[in-house]
Amino acid sequence: MRILFLTHAFNSLTQRLYVELSRLGHEVSIEFDINDSVTTEAVDLFRPHLILAPYLRRAIPEAIWRNHLCLVLHPGIVGDRGPSALDWAILKGEKEWGVTLLQAEAEMDAGPVWASETFPLRQAKKSSIYRNEVTEAAVRVVMTALERLPDYRAGKWQPQAVPLRPMHALMQQADRAIDWAHDNTETVLAKLNAADGFPGVKDALLGHPCHLFNAHAFHARGTPGAVLGRSGEGVVRATTDGAVRVGHVKREGGIKLPVAVAFTEILSLAEMDASANPPRPPFSKGGSNHDDDRRVPPFAKGGTGGIPAAPDIRYEEAEGVGYLHFDFYNGAMGTDACRRLLAAYEAARLQPTRVIVLLGGPDFFSNGLDLNRIEAADSPPDESWRNIEAMDELCRAVIETGTHHTVAALQGNAGAGGAFLALAVDCVWAREGVILNPHYKNMGNLYGSEYWTYLLPRRVGSEAGRAIMENRLPLGAWQAAQSGFIDDSIEADPSAFVGEVRRRAAELAASADLAARLAAKRETRRRDEANKPLERYRDEELVQLRRNFFGFDPAYHVARHHFVHKTPHSWTPRHLARHRELGWTVPSA
Ligand code: COA
Repeated sequence: MRILFLTHAFNSLTQRLYVELSRLGHEVSIEFDINDSVTTEAVDLFRPHLILAPYLRRAIPEAIWRNHLCLVLHPGIVGDRGPSALDWAILKGEKEWGVTLLQAEAEMDAGPVWASETFPLRQAKKSSIYRNEVTEAAVRVVMTALERLPDYRAGKWQPQAVPLRPMHALMQQADRAIDWAHDNTETVLAKLNAADGFPGVKDALLGHPCHLFNAHAFHARGTPGAVLGRSGEGVVRATTDGAVRVGHVKREGGIKLPVAVAFTEILSLAEMDASANPPRPPFSKGGSNHDDDRRVPPFAKGGTGGIPAAPDIRYEEAEGVGYLHFDFYNGAMGTDACRRLLAAYEAARLQPTRVIVLLGGPDFFSNGLDLNRIEAADSPPDESWRNIEAMDELCRAVIETGTHHTVAALQGNAGAGGAFLALAVDCVWAREGVILNPHYKNMGNLYGSEYWTYLLPRRVGSEAGRAIMENRLPLGAWQAAQSGFIDDSIEADPSAFVGEVRRRAAELAASADLAARLAAKRETRRRDEANKPLERYRDEELVQLRRNFFGFDPAYHVARHHFVHKTPHSWTPRHLARHRELGWTVPSA
């Protein structure tokens, strides 16, 4: 079938559906919902058999839904309506939520239902629920709808009209406001989670208005609302029965940044002990969490003399395997994050383990350079340079590891330099639902570094490597495994993935041929280095990047500005809108 995605953006959920439907052999083209005439033009050009709206903020024009089958994905349970579906569900503490696929009709979210799914609602950020539970359920409802389509066309099946629940209005800041004097930690977190990643909760810090993001419970007590201290680059504020650590803020007219970057004043506050706050693993099933069963000693207490426990980096060991978790907000890895992770990695390398697993975070493995921090720097070109140097050093340390077998286990998506960081290891596994965007060009023709010119061709060959970089399309983990970009795509839901990784890693560490494997790897590295030193790959990449950062063409700086400031799209990129490609001929049927 020709399937047209009508969507506000090519976001992670839309990318996942794109990958899954392409896998089934459907021809998918994308049009951003910019205005009605552009939508009409796209439909006329593509003549789709089905229009799917995975992420729409406006109603579909009547002339389109009357003449074409249009299915709209709503991130809510059957009967739920309105634009802030997940926000309300999280704020109200619903125990179960869901996804519904509706046929578009005149009234938004009120058409007959094609398919629906439910899931237990975790206490987590809205964006995390969206990227995990909602996305997984969305794939299932779309697959169900496709199965029903032949019967619908043959008049043997009809979508069901359902009783509608009272419409929830767009959630306002007044609904989100934190009452610091009366709200306990659970309420404060529900309000912050319901607004994360967008729009954040309007509040104030040190007397300045700002929106708050990226909050976790923190083990501390104090006068409700008071700033108790600092934890890393975040600030700790008391609630009525505990405290929360707020990691990011957006000041008025500004962009989202770590609190200590937006409010440098907090750097003078006392650092609070994060080791009393082991981060809670986010996924649990049936009440018990595989990852929660082991109480993880913070790295500094492992007798390594290594790094202090940090809110975003965590190390643990089991059965000869060292696990390095790094959960950077939005997967963005600034200069400091890269350096801290490198220090943690080097310390992990000194441990008497045999395998090191890089686990990233539950939502993202990594999205490369921290574009927000770069944007906010006094000199974005200089900060871009510092950031890529720090990233390259990290990648190099991983590539040059001869003492351990290294694994990257991707629980969440990876993009740009973050996807190439994963390739620096010996063996890459990804959860089947993970989406990879291993290309840089979307960011103003950025050339990229991270030794990709060494790492990519050796995995997929030069030709396929070039295609991946040029096409700028998302890759599903299964596709990536097929092409050799990664080693294996593991079919497991997010709650089971880390358990499966632990099982495989322990098996690796115990395997009799590990020493031989390590010797072979050292030999390959020695030969590769003799053939062309890593330094030369890096230098060649940096020559190009220097042009991106410091040259006459400002494309990277312009693209980064638009990305960070979330400038609305004014057209759909050609590589997504197939129906607008040169040479496209309008299909006859
Ligand atoms: N630096 C800072 N923030 C980043 C980021 C980065 N490298 N990559 C993603 N983010 C932020 C987004 O701004 C967004 O923020 P929000 O929560 O405030 O809305 C959030 O992470 C999620 O990103 P989004 O683009 O909505 O996710 P997606 O899953 O739809 O798309 C990518 C994933 C990787 C395709 C997309 O985020 C991207 O192109 N990122 C930039 C990658 C890059 O060019 N890095 C620099 C070169 S190494």
